[in-house]
Amino acid sequence: MRISVIGCGYLGAVHAASMAKLGHDVIGIDTDAAKVQALALGEAPFYEPGLPELLRETVTTGRLVFTTEIAAAAEAQVHFVCVGTPQKRGEYAADLRFVDAAITGLLPYLRAGSLVAGKSTVPVGTAHRLAGLVTGAQAEAMLAWNPEFLREGYAVKDTLHPDRIVYGIPGGPGSAAGVRAEKILDEVYATPLAEHIPKVVTDYTTAELVKVAANSFLATKISFINAMAELCEATGADVTQLADAIGYDSRIGRKFLNAGLGFGGGCLPKDIRAFMARAGELGVDQALSFLREVDSINMRRRVRMVDLAREVCGGSIVGRRVAVLGAAFKPDSDDVRDSPALNVAAQMQLQGAHVVVTDPEAIANAQLAWPTLSFASSAEDAAAGADVVLLLTEWRQYRELDPVAFGRLVSGRRIIDGRNVLDPFTWRAAGWTYRALGRGTAVQQPGVEVHAALAAQGVSPTSP
Ligand code: UDX
Repeated sequence: MRISVIGCGYLGAVHAASMAKLGHDVIGIDTDAAKVQALALGEAPFYEPGLPELLRETVTTGRLVFTTEIAAAAEAQVHFVCVGTPQKRGEYAADLRFVDAAITGLLPYLRAGSLVAGKSTVPVGTAHRLAGLVTGAQAEAMLAWNPEFLREGYAVKDTLHPDRIVYGIPGGPGSAAGVRAEKILDEVYATPLAEHIPKVVTDYTTAELVKVAANSFLATKISFINAMAELCEATGADVTQLADAIGYDSRIGRKFLNAGLGFGGGCLPKDIRAFMARAGELGVDQALSFLREVDSINMRRRVRMVDLAREVCGGSIVGRRVAVLGAAFKPDSDDVRDSPALNVAAQMQLQGAHVVVTDPEAIANAQLAWPTLSFASSAEDAAAGADVVLLLTEWRQYRELDPVAFGRLVSGRRIIDGRNVLDPFTWRAAGWTYRALGRGTAVQQPGVEVHAALAAQGVSPTSP
């Protein structure tokens, strides 16, 4: 099929290359000339594992081209809209200006049988409004909503082998236009559908809600375990063991129960806020009031991390040298949008600490966002002379640090594990003060706390 992809950011660039990999002829369109130039050369303009190889492969075949000219979309039958829907400044609501501009720009190039497929995350009701624009410009064209669930760091795999494919089609399942739209999308996704990936065909509003409901659930799961972490901090319990224990229950599941600094990025935080704003407009704000708490729990973790660092530094961070490992909002990404790690780094810098941040891929983006922070190109350089080390994004190379060798670089062996990924016992054994979110004032050898509690009750821990 001939496909255009409007918007070539973290979502669109991967989608365009993946569609070409599936055998389609693809035109990627973006207003950013520098990005288009890089993509046209087969170079990824951001860090995403597997994307450079996929781009090189598909650009070389000639099946994937990039341009800044929206008129190039005229050659395509299917148009994927992959532009961003950021949070509006000073409001919870999503800013739809890029989606509106993409659709309006496409209108002159639609023909009979064209399908516009929205992938951007939008407030429920948006597709219905945009469908009016599409059919107003070309009565025989159609709009579908086909939400995207890719995770950064796994974007290529998630696009080529998604967990599910959702179509929101005009008139809902069974309508004549809907059947036509479904048929076109089935042709686009013929390869993944042949792998028996589940397909849900529904109306516009359900498709739009699926995406925000999924992200709200994920955010709630993370904030749930982080709320438990607060309880653990107050009682001396261990949130990682708690997560393991409840995660063995297959109804709960262990995934997305990693307690720590909480969620950030370009999706979860702004999506739950836009969802709350939309619920308010629909008069059902009470239904989502729990998301306000999910958001607050998440933001409190960042403040708690700074407080913990202050505690570990003996009550003040003024003039203290702080090494921050990680700037991206998650590992295997260079994305620093709403990064919890950078938020903590900036708070500490503003409170008088000297903060040196490092990250394997995100330094350039972090520097643009926070030019007043200092940056180092390796964990070792960041840690040189540090009074405290904060592990805030769990890149593999930080998880695998050798506490003995690393300990020789710092001026004080104090580490705070913001993602609960280090082994407290080996770090303690190497002379470090190890602290973590949700693990009380000190992580003991497994069982020691339990034994102490039992002993206090006069029960021998070794008794059957
Ligand atoms: C998310 C959704 O997973 C994806 O389906 C959607 O399409 C876009 O939003 P992404 O933003 O790439 O994807 O990252 P994700 O892996 O979901 O992580 C989001 C944040 O939650 C990260 O900051 C991560 O560090 C944090 N997180 C994740 C936790 O704090 N604990 C966990 O257990 C899991």
